[in-house]
Amino acid sequence: MSIHIEAKKGDIAATVLLPGDPMRAKWIAETFFENSKQYNDVRGMLGYTGTYKGKRISTQGTGMGIPSTLIYCHELINNYGVKNLIRVGSAGSYQKHVNIRDIVIAMSASSTSGINNSRFINADYAPTANFELFMKAAAYSKANNIPIKAGNVLSSDEFYEDEFDSYKKWADFGVLCVEMETAGLYTIAAKHNVKALSLLTISDSLVTKEATSADERESTFNTMIEIALSTLD
Ligand code: ADE
Repeated sequence: MSIHIEAKKGDIAATVLLPGDPMRAKWIAETFFENSKQYNDVRGMLGYTGTYKGKRISTQGTGMGIPSTLIYCHELINNYGVKNLIRVGSAGSYQKHVNIRDIVIAMSASSTSGINNSRFINADYAPTANFELFMKAAAYSKANNIPIKAGNVLSSDEFYEDEFDSYKKWADFGVLCVEMETAGLYTIAAKHNVKALSLLTISDSLVTKEATSADERESTFNTMIEIALSTLD
């Protein structure tokens, strides 16, 4: 048992899918896992372990933002020996060519968070996806004709910005979309020499102001989980 996860050692698989919303973890376990068993309900941050096509897998809600995500990733890695952390989340588009319902793989994550500024004084650290997980996800998508976009994303500390068009600076430098967790995930994975990948579905667009309905979110979420599961060894 760790501070925020009440599982016993061995209860959590080597690969964990990480949605921000704990109800998504429940949905992933109920929809995709065989023989799933809930291992966590501390603070309502649900976690489950089961199998997918006979391979052991877990899913754990992380909450929103880098601080909450780092708590769960730290404990999964250091208390439960997790080796592959795959975020399955949503993001807002920053580009005309990134449409709602698109799937984006985060190759790297810029950030407004201070976690690395306070580590690397007067220098920038570049949180980056694990190449092996990235290649598996890209190869599965190609083989199954699933269109994906890949590139730099922004992990913002604020969902509600002061200026409605503050996204434009990031957009001008090629950032595809905004979410709130990936830079933290990639940094902690690198620090502990484990693998991480972030898969995102576009739920809203800061460019067109469109947003997906709950039904649309569910069907794109399905495809994204399929891609995440294809990385299992
Ligand atoms: N996740 C989904 N949409 C988002 C947005 N517009 N900003 C930050 N995180 C998000």
